[in-house]
Amino acid sequence: PSLTKFVDPLPRPSTAVPDPSAYPGADYYEFTMRQGSWRFHRDLGPSPVWGYWATDPHRPHEPIGMGYLGPTFETIRDRPTVVKYRNELPTTHMFQTVIDMIRDKKPVVAPIPPPPYEYMPQFPDDINVWNVVHQHGGYTAPQSDGLPEQSFSPKGFHAEGYTTLEPGRVKPNEAIYAYTNHDHSCMLWYHDHAMGMSALNVYAGLAGLYFIRDPADERLGLPRGEFEVPLILQDRTFNANGSLAYTMVDREGEDTPIVNGKAYPYLDVEPRRYRLRILNASNERFWRLRFDTPRGVLHQPQLPFWLIGTDGGLRAPLHMLDFLISPAERYDLIVDFSEIPPGKDVTLTNYPGTQVHFPGITGCGPEIAEIMRFRVRKPLSGGQDRSTPPEKLKLQSVPAIKPKPHTRRRQWVVYQHELFRTMTFNAVPYMEPSQDFIKEGSTEIWEYINPNHDAHPMHVHLVNFQVLDRQPIDAAAYQKDYDNWVYGGRKPEDHPAVADYFTGPPIPPDPDEALPYKDTVKAPAQMVTRIIIQEFVPPKKEIASIPGSGAELPATYIHHCHLLEHEDDDLMRPWTIVPAGD
Ligand code: C2O
Repeated sequence: PSLTKFVDPLPRPSTAVPDPSAYPGADYYEFTMRQGSWRFHRDLGPSPVWGYWATDPHRPHEPIGMGYLGPTFETIRDRPTVVKYRNELPTTHMFQTVIDMIRDKKPVVAPIPPPPYEYMPQFPDDINVWNVVHQHGGYTAPQSDGLPEQSFSPKGFHAEGYTTLEPGRVKPNEAIYAYTNHDHSCMLWYHDHAMGMSALNVYAGLAGLYFIRDPADERLGLPRGEFEVPLILQDRTFNANGSLAYTMVDREGEDTPIVNGKAYPYLDVEPRRYRLRILNASNERFWRLRFDTPRGVLHQPQLPFWLIGTDGGLRAPLHMLDFLISPAERYDLIVDFSEIPPGKDVTLTNYPGTQVHFPGITGCGPEIAEIMRFRVRKPLSGGQDRSTPPEKLKLQSVPAIKPKPHTRRRQWVVYQHELFRTMTFNAVPYMEPSQDFIKEGSTEIWEYINPNHDAHPMHVHLVNFQVLDRQPIDAAAYQKDYDNWVYGGRKPEDHPAVADYFTGPPIPPDPDEALPYKDTVKAPAQMVTRIIIQEFVPPKKEIASIPGSGAELPATYIHHCHLLEHEDDDLMRPWTIVPAGD
């Protein structure tokens, strides 16, 4: 259906209310996953959706939520959060036909793509729904990280790796997790990370925002309250009746951009500075974004803005006109609408852009252009804008992590198996036990070697990192030799050395990815992308006061491609932090 644009106001997810008394020294929440109903647009009928609902400790009968997505966490740096997650979803999946198709291994019928979910171990045939919640980007102990094998179902079936704090305080369909909030002030998010079906579960609505605030930031004078606006960008396809359709097929004119759950919304703004906290929560779409203005309003067709933060925290302000955001990345912007005459509009737009710099990007095509509209309609409240002009912001650049000659390098080849079409790192499936043991406290360089045709957003749990550089490779030759190594019995002497395939010198990171805190990086096609990660240390003392929250489990975490269908496929591997002496 072709939808009228800019007729629905932008929703703002509500904020969850903590109970400060349940756990001394922590804020306690209860979140329930439930099926609900949500209209994605004025002219679309209601759709079944999945979402999180937070219990309000003061009004236990009025849960906080909107049906789709989930309430926002507002937390203070270093004050831990404890959350009880409860699974009350239906026992039949919202996209059960997709799951049946995979499980019966029926031939795949268009428009459903080849199954990324071939592998759903551990779950009996009559269990069709399971979930687990991951706090993306947080400094979290392994038992609270929400790894795929920690999934649990509505009726209480547990995967083998299920963990909870205080087992005596939970029912079988619940799990209690603790978050340290030992991070820089930033916008994290939480989302479903279920084994083999996070793509379906997030598509149904299981995602939300998680702010960590640092009281020391108050002196910065950033726009706040109603002038700080989170924007959760997703693309969705709808059936004629308005219900969500899971197709994951880019058919022109059928992909609809939604922001905070509404298709083509608008936001009425004052002529002043706003802080926009943008999250790309799409399953697979990259967005190349800019703020288009009507002809003749400015000297240039776009409204410039300032980048003041990324995934894991604030950074030195950078003046920009556009940016590319991959799934799971966050961009923290200051946009000044006072340059726009009252009554005029600014349109957040996705545009194709050049593929030269980042080959293999999907989703920046012409099928989505306009996304949402800012209408400069409201009078300036309070007489003037008292927020600090971005060029005067006292924000330091993040100190560079410097590689040393002996810094350990680890290589991750994005490998698509020729016969099985499965995506893996280094031709090793996810369920193979961890083979990567990292000494506690060490710094490492990770190289994502991507010889295939798509770009992938790579996400590492637990840590922040910096982008060092990228280097083009002869992808066809590398792929061929890597295939030969895999099929030839993986003899060490046949293992292709990536240095033999470089076709050019290293390319420095773009200004927006140079020296910020990152947890997700774009790994373009036919390139090596290098990141440097400092201090692999699992949290211990940060949550010592919360029963059962310490890192007594092996400190095994994961990294993966954040195209959710690839993560569910097998482009994900565990890694383990071991004591420095070992
Ligand atoms: Cu946002 Cu392991 O994920």
